[in-house]
Amino acid sequence: MSKLLILNGPNLNLLGTRQPEVYGRVTLDDINALCAKEASRLGLSVDCLQSNHEGALIDAVHAARGQHAGIVLNAGAYTHTSVALMDAIASAAVPLVEVHLSNIHAREAFRHKSYIAPVALGQICGFGATGYILAIQALAAHLAAQSGKAST
Ligand code: DQA
Repeated sequence: MSKLLILNGPNLNLLGTRQPEVYGRVTLDDINALCAKEASRLGLSVDCLQSNHEGALIDAVHAARGQHAGIVLNAGAYTHTSVALMDAIASAAVPLVEVHLSNIHAREAFRHKSYIAPVALGQICGFGATGYILAIQALAAHLAAQSGKAST
């Protein structure tokens, strides 16, 4: 069974209590449970990891190579700053979908720039936790297209 990595960056461990007016009341555990359910519906499984540390996120991207068929990444604020994470994604060459709970393009100008977007299959933002589900569906469709099968 193909495995996906659900990778969350800094401060996302605080979801549920962190700025609920921006990010809602859903917790990271809730999101991880939703991801596991959607992946299983599509015949996939997930490993879920969160870190507040840039190097740990980079290590996780490197380790995904050969272990995970795809990555769903919410890099939090590192999205807007981390050339190192961008390089790791480009080097690992594991298909990746970028997710944000909030619509980063409707927020402060510094959030409009993503270092992840140029090395991602695509970006999903503004749909809250549903974005993770959409990202899993997009990865499943991508993997199915790669292997010549249709995904549902
Ligand atoms: C975020 C958006 C980022 O700009 C912010 O730094 C986050 C969360 C989101 O999910 O909307 O930490 O990635």
